[in-house]
Amino acid sequence: MKLLVTGGAGFIASNFIRYLRHQHPEDTIVNLDVLTYAGNLNSLTDIEASSDHYSFVKADITNTEDIHSVMRGGVDVMVNFAAESHVDRSILDPVVFVRTNVLGTQVLLDVARHYGVKKFVQVSTDEVYGTLDLHSPAFTETTPLQPNSPYSASKAAADLLVRAYHETFGLSVNITRCSNNYGPYQFPEKLIPLMIINALEDKPLPIYGDGLQIRDWLHVSDHCAGIDLVIRQGRNGEAYNIGGQNERTNLDIVRTVLKALGKSESLIQHVEDRPGHDRRYAIDATKIETELGWLPQYTFDRGIQETIEWYLGHRSWWESVRSGKYREYYDRQYGSRLESMRT
Ligand code: NAD
Ligand code: TYD
Repeated sequence: MKLLVTGGAGFIASNFIRYLRHQHPEDTIVNLDVLTYAGNLNSLTDIEASSDHYSFVKADITNTEDIHSVMRGGVDVMVNFAAESHVDRSILDPVVFVRTNVLGTQVLLDVARHYGVKKFVQVSTDEVYGTLDLHSPAFTETTPLQPNSPYSASKAAADLLVRAYHETFGLSVNITRCSNNYGPYQFPEKLIPLMIINALEDKPLPIYGDGLQIRDWLHVSDHCAGIDLVIRQGRNGEAYNIGGQNERTNLDIVRTVLKALGKSESLIQHVEDRPGHDRRYAIDATKIETELGWLPQYTFDRGIQETIEWYLGHRSWWESVRSGKYREYYDRQYGSRLESMRT
């Protein structure tokens, strides 16, 4: 099988490429990524060094011509990970989210249709379903889409385009909707790596609001295994939720990180809440479990321990991605929040 993996220099797709290389060494992978602030080829140095079945193309998914030229080499399956992925950035600057996540997906769908790919897989998120009360049942694939952030709205729009290309043009598609991921190579703007790194450096850990918001955490390699199953066995036109029944409050996560690193809880600082902050996400993964036999392999205790150790052992990876523009973002996002705590 020849797969076009978009966004392959990002967190989840770099893990996915590594997963594919181990599970299906006979497959050929083309990694297409424009290398935004979140794309990092240093996350794939082991893959590039060792594989004939892997190539990298620097290109933008919104650029139709570039995608055409990659497709002329022949591709069986397109898997779209490429996206602007961070909710806080979507609040600061929504435009690029619409451009990449909506327009980019539409361009890929058009090209996929033109070349008659065997399948188009859209890597989506549980955030398209909106927010849950504490006692509401978890999201199923039939939960209405009610996104609350510019990020989740752009991902929901992309999901609807995927559905429309299936219904209108008969394109073979699947959508996966996974809960929050954690693991190696995650950009340190997201909760878990941000907290690990700030704690290591004895900096404040900024908790939005009361910190009792709930996320349903899944180790990235379990997400990758789910996507792989959907690619090979997913029923045409279907969406599949992926999640490991692992609901935790943000405060619980941060305390776990601090304890593992032997740091004091006095580093925690409650700061101004995120506007429109979704209270709770929870995934019902019955469909992928029963239809495709997917089950998560990682316990959270093992996954978080390994992840913390990975960040401890890969200081040069995260120090290099935090330079330059990341500093600007960090100051814009946290500067006044942390300032107002001090005054
Ligand atoms: P990420 O931000 O780490 O990586 C995104 C990648 O896409 C980067 O390598 C970036 O360079 C690339 N990219 C961005 N714009 C592009 C463009 N116009 N053309 C080509 N490449 C472009 O994201 P992630 O956390 O790995 O998420 C990957 C996918 O999984 C996203 O679609 C996201 O919505 C989805 N998802 C993420 C999570 C999570 O917890 N992180 C959970 C569920 C679903
Ligand atoms: P995040 O990793 O941004 O993922 P998402 O918003 O897509 O779920 O955030 C996870 C949770 O952690 C979310 O409830 C927001 C919260 N959070 C903080 O409290 N402080 C922070 O500095 C960040 C980045 C997130």
